Parts: sequence; C-alpha cells; structure tokens
Amino acid sequence: MKRLIKLIRKQWLGYLFGILTLLTSIVLDMYNPYFVGEIIDRSIIGGELGYLRIALLALAGITLGRAVLGYTKELSFDIASSKVIVDLRKKMFDHIQKLSFSFFDENNTGELMSRIKEDTENIMNAICYGIMLFLEQIIYFIIATVILLTINWKLALISLVTMPVIEYVVFRLERSVGKTYEKISDQRAVLNTTAQQNIAGVRVVKAFGREKYEIQKFLRQNEENYKINYEQAQAMARYNPPIEFLSNLVLVLVVSVGGYYVIGGDMSLGTLVAFSNYIYMLIWPMRMMGWLTNVLAQCMASVKKIDKLFEEEPSIRNCDAPIKPERLEGHVEFRNVSFEYAGTNVLEKIDIDAKPGSTIAIMGMTGAGKSSLVNLIGRYYDCSSGQVMIDGVDVREMDLTVLRKNVSAVMQDTFLFSDTIEDNIKFGAGEVPEEVFKAACSDAMVDEFVSQMPEGYQTVIGERGMGLSGGQKQRISIARALVRDARVLIMDDSTSALDMETEYAIQKAMEKRKGITCFIIAHRVSAVKNADEILYFQDGRIAERGTHSELLRLRGRYYDTYCEQYRDYVEALEKEVV
Ligand code: GTP
Ligand code: MG
Repeated sequence: MKRLIKLIRKQWLGYLFGILTLLTSIVLDMYNPYFVGEIIDRSIIGGELGYLRIALLALAGITLGRAVLGYTKELSFDIASSKVIVDLRKKMFDHIQKLSFSFFDENNTGELMSRIKEDTENIMNAICYGIMLFLEQIIYFIIATVILLTINWKLALISLVTMPVIEYVVFRLERSVGKTYEKISDQRAVLNTTAQQNIAGVRVVKAFGREKYEIQKFLRQNEENYKINYEQAQAMARYNPPIEFLSNLVLVLVVSVGGYYVIGGDMSLGTLVAFSNYIYMLIWPMRMMGWLTNVLAQCMASVKKIDKLFEEEPSIRNCDAPIKPERLEGHVEFRNVSFEYAGTNVLEKIDIDAKPGSTIAIMGMTGAGKSSLVNLIGRYYDCSSGQVMIDGVDVREMDLTVLRKNVSAVMQDTFLFSDTIEDNIKFGAGEVPEEVFKAACSDAMVDEFVSQMPEGYQTVIGERGMGLSGGQKQRISIARALVRDARVLIMDDSTSALDMETEYAIQKAMEKRKGITCFIIAHRVSAVKNADEILYFQDGRIAERGTHSELLRLRGRYYDTYCEQYRDYVEALEKEVV
C-alpha cells in the first residue's frame, strides 16, 4: 500500500489538475437548477423575456463548460493513474526478474500473469475512476445538502432522512452483485487457463486423440461462465428497480410537501423545481457509493496480493562484500556438497575437482540429481551444505553478475523466444563481435541449417521455436551458450536430440575451444567418453568415477550402459575374436 501511495504522490500534479477541473465542473453544475428555477419564476411566471435570453445563454455556457471540463478531468485522472500503473508494473516486473529459480518452482505462470494484468487493472479502476467519482460524489452531496438546507430546511430534512434507507438498499444489492464479480473473475481465470493450456499443448491433445475430451471440458466451463453471467445479469436487473422506486418516492414526497408550500405561497414554483433537481445530487452519490465500495474492496485485495509478491525476497543474492575477480580461470570445485529441495535430499556429499579447461561428464538415471548438481555452479540454487568454489572462491561470495557472466549453460529444456534466430543466439550476451557469433554458430552446427533458410539468421521463430526440429532448437541453444565466451560451460542433456554425426561434429568443434571447463550431462556413452572424468550418478551420489577406459575396466554400471548401447558392436567384436 505504501508503495502505491508513493507512486500516486509522484503524480500529484496530474491529480491536482484533475481535482481542480472537477471542482470547477461541480460549481458550474450547481448553477443549473438555479437557472431553471429562475427561468420558471421570472420568465415563465413573471414574463421577463430578457432574463430568459440571459438564463438560456448561461445554461448553454454551463453545458459547454462542463463538457470541456469533463473531458479535461477524465484525461488528467486517466493520464496520472496510467503513469502510476506503468510505474507499478515496471517495479513488479523488475522485482519478479530478481527472484530466484525456487520462487518460480513454487508459483505458476498464470498467477503471476494475473498479478501483472488483472490486479493492476483493479488498482487502475480504483485510483482513476474510484478516486474521481468518490471526490465528485462527496462534494456534490455536501454542496447539495447545504443548498437544500438554505432553500428550505424542513423539506431538506425530509429528503435527508430518506437517504440512509436508499443507502441500505444500495449496499445490500451491491453486495450480491459484488459476489458475482468475484465468481466471474475466478471463473474467467479457470476458463483462460483451460484455453491457454489446450492451445499451448494442442500437439499433445491431438497426438493422444483427446480433442473431444478437451472440447467437452471447455464447453462445461463455458456453460459455467454463462450461468455466472446470467446470475450477475439477474442481480443487476434486481438492482435498479427498487432504487428507482425509492428515489421517485422521495421526489413524490418532496413535491407533495413542497406543492403544499407553493400553494400556501411560502415557496415559489421555480424554487420547488430547483429543489427537486438538487435532490438528484443527493441520490446519485448514494447510488455510487455501493459501486465505489466494490471497486475499493477489489483494489485492496489486489494491493494485498501485489504487496505479498513484493515481500518475496530473492533467496539468491549478493553477499555484503562480493568478490569481483577480473578474470576467471574456470577451476570448479565441489567440496562435500549436499543439496535438498524442501527437505528432500537430492545430492549427498559430492566432491569434484574440475581443473581449468577440463571436461567433466555426468551420467546416471533420470532423477539421479545431475541437473541439480550443475545448477549449483551458476548459483541457480545454493547448496545446503559444503561449498561450490570457482578459482578458490565460494560462489556465494562471488559477485553474481561476474559469476553468471562466466558460467554459461545450455539448459535441459530448450526455450527459444519468439524472435529472430540471431537475437535468440545473442540473447544475454550484449554486444557480440561478428567473428565470435560466427564461430559459435559454426561450432554449434547452426550454420548448417540456417544458411538454407531464405531469411537466414533473420528468420523469426515461433513462441516455442515452432517450425524448427528438436535438434535444431538444441543447436541454437548451444550457440547461445557458446556466444557468451564464458569460462565454465554447462551442457545439460543438450545433444540428446542430435544424431550421432552432428553430436560428434559439435564435440570436435568444442575440443578446439581451449581453456573452457565443461560439464556435460548426457545419456549416450558417445557424448561422454572423451571426458577427463566421467561421474556416474545414482540417487544423488557418485556411484562410479574415472575415465572411459577406467570405468570400462571397473565393469560396473557405466560398463553396463556401454554394453547396452554398443551391444551390436561388442557382439560383433566378440564373434570376431572367436
Ligand atoms: P534427468 O534430467 O531426468 O536425467 O534427471 P536429473 O538427474 O537431472 O535429476 P534432477 O537433478 O533434475 O532431479 C533430482 C531430484 O530432485 C528428483 O528426484 C526430482 O524429483 C527432484 N527435483 C528436481 N527439481 C525439483 C524441484 O523444483 N522441487 C523439488 N521439490 N524437487 C525437485
Ligand atoms: Mg536433468
């Protein structure tokens, strides 16, 4: 809330201008009933035609003035509030960007999207139309009350006494409409999620022949949506008639009692007409208050949710005096490292010493903890105990920007942006010299297929890299990692979709890149056999370690994997020996 108030205060000039035009517009409006009353008394009854001309001119002037002021008022409030929302969204987005991987593991995208979109819209409603109408209606109410009391205090009291009754009915009805608003908002979120997931996962749906099921699911939710909208329409329909009835009742009461005064000569007809017009200025604020409380309640709920998001602290951040080495050699060490996700041990007491320029290969069953291990190097997560060191410095003491600049990763799930191939590759690398870009593309075997494309590196690829094969996507993400020219390179299962030949070509090209410490996770022996050390992981521990030939001699799990993958070759060899 404090954050929001600060942002609103920053736009004080816009709001002040809006409030001034609002006040002027109200003052003008207050003259309307007055002139109508005077026209009746002086021109229609009194026959003063000269006055009629002046009064009509004044009324036209008031109407024009109000139109211009109304426009300026809305525009000022709109501009000021939009600026507040732009600032708020920017702050939210900056904050979300700072949060750590673990935050995104626990929060789903849909929810974050609704924070950025729907919740900010709710706030916009309140700080723009809410503030504007609230001020307007309060001022109308106060001024109208004073005017009515000065015109005829008895008649004024009769009208004022009925106001709480109207307000009570308004609040009751608004509460039922408010409930349907909430239901509609929740239901819309469900409908959006279903539609979004179905469209994003359309290939899976089709491949599994689940179209009919998905259509039915959507239809059910659409039907539900219709029902809630119908409920809201009913609540809305119930809303107006009783309030209209009560408002008219007040008018009837005032006209009856006022008529009595007019007949008795205690009040002029014009004054009575003016009086009944002023009464509307009492009733409208009453009606608006119900809507305003709903808008305010929605805004407060959204502010609370956004505040909660801002309270989220990035679990991974710089220590107080981070070390900023000029240049890294790329000596990576794991010293007795253990790691857990929410209390479950994933890695236990790992020791690794990867000398600068060496290649460490990691194999093991799915879920053995391979990705979790490499995630600790660039501090995507922090280990629970032990130390991960680069060049003898604990990564937790190293400046995060320096660290992340020097650790480049090809993630297990390739994610490409809906952008050109070139921008996808240069992503996050800042200014890239042409020769570095070219070398990365050639080493990752991207050149091979991009040069066939009519638009080459300027080809725009879809949201998920649509239009590219799995292997092509992997090659682009390898190029993206290479272009950064980091000291430590992590390749998490990043050649799994490539054919052996391409994989081999990339391996050969990588070997030429001297001085880079590589961590390669792979399931294929062909991808790891040249590594300086191969680690075979099982249940978060290193079950076997050594070079390719050492592990073969060990005749353990690595050997089994080798035999499995090279069965034909081994059998052929054995036959030859026989
Ligand atoms: P593959 O990529 O399938 O070959 O497996 P991996 O060896 O890379 O396994 P990974 O390191 O991703 O996971 C190790 C263990 O951690 C598994 O038991 C996962 O279920 C668990 N795990 C992974 N990510 C998370 C997470 O975000 N939260 C929690 N609670 N557990 C996780
Ligand atoms: Mg993995």
